[in-house]
Amino acid sequence: MRRSLRSLLVATAAASLVVPLWAGTAANAEPPGFSHADKDTLRNQAPRDLAIGSAVWAQRDLLSYDPAAPTELQRVLGAQFSSVTPENDMKWDAIHPAPDVYDFASADALVAFAEANGQEVRGHTLLWHSQNPAWVTAASSTWTCDDARAVLEDHIRTVVGHFKGEIYEWDVANEIFQDNWDAGGVRLRTEANPFLRACADDPVALIGDAFRWAHEADPDAVLFLNDYNAEGINEKTDAYYDLAQRLLADGVPLSGFGAQGHLSLLYGFDTSIQANFERFAALGLKVAVTEADVRIPLLDGETGPTPAQVAEQAARYDAMLEACLNVPACSSFTVWGFPDANSWVPAVFPGEGWATIFEDDFSPKPAFDVMLASLRDATPGISPRRG
Ligand code: XIL
Repeated sequence: MRRSLRSLLVATAAASLVVPLWAGTAANAEPPGFSHADKDTLRNQAPRDLAIGSAVWAQRDLLSYDPAAPTELQRVLGAQFSSVTPENDMKWDAIHPAPDVYDFASADALVAFAEANGQEVRGHTLLWHSQNPAWVTAASSTWTCDDARAVLEDHIRTVVGHFKGEIYEWDVANEIFQDNWDAGGVRLRTEANPFLRACADDPVALIGDAFRWAHEADPDAVLFLNDYNAEGINEKTDAYYDLAQRLLADGVPLSGFGAQGHLSLLYGFDTSIQANFERFAALGLKVAVTEADVRIPLLDGETGPTPAQVAEQAARYDAMLEACLNVPACSSFTVWGFPDANSWVPAVFPGEGWATIFEDDFSPKPAFDVMLASLRDATPGISPRRG
């Protein structure tokens, strides 16, 4: 229903060649009967049908959703964003807690929230080395490749099939390459990832089949490779570029490349992100920024960032957004949750924080203001995704 309505809107916009500045196009338009009081929002200012998303942990933040009395987080999420990504709710440990048990409760709550707010859903994730349930970790110690394939196929067909027609982009394979600082350098994670480990003789065949199973379960979803440290042109993205070409040559239904966009002011910013996106787009893939946040080293829990750090954070968020705006194949730009109190950063990167675009009282930071201005200034256009 939502999908056909959107297609119609895209077709209408394309036919008239007139796109209202404030409305964006299909993905960002308000659904019938739904009105945002404030048109000056990220979602409403986005050009073409570029989806502007946020992660949200439905288990924590959406189960109690009452459209008539939203929490402040729910109100901001609905008002500002046209796409939502389940921060944890579609990961293996949440959705497949026992071999014969699938638990869709919180992921379904996220999809229902998205429906109610005229939003699209990015699926995350199907093949990853992290947040796998204990039963996978235990069983995988004796898996043959056929065992691993059977478990992964059942999972992908069941989960993607459950959400068929509801998810516009799926992160099929997440973080499947090691980093150049890991033992053995940049190569597929055939130790940490239990599925790739069981099929270490030919991990690319398994990865290709993961995309095939997902495509069969939902032919309309755009299927992504996704990773961190994958913004600029570097050793890791070179490996992805080679892998993408190989998969495409094999006829694998790979259709997207996602750069997570987890940046830190402790490190420099690689400005080759647009060139990197352009080379993947030239392969015929969509590209996306899937998990943007910019963490800041803080002196202690009491001391906020300096004005220079705040400005640098805004510049980095904006640089990622600009790369996306400048590449027509960029279909979505997603921030990894808000406000800071909900961010994964302090728990995983001690001493760093203040990484999201909203303060804990939900007031927008300069990063938000700068991105809103960039969206306002962007040239409206026709859908890169469905046009
Ligand atoms: C993180 C979540 O934000 C946390 O809540 C969770 O405890 C760990 O995972 N790359 C990814 C995301 O692909 O799934 C991760 O999300 C952040 C890094």
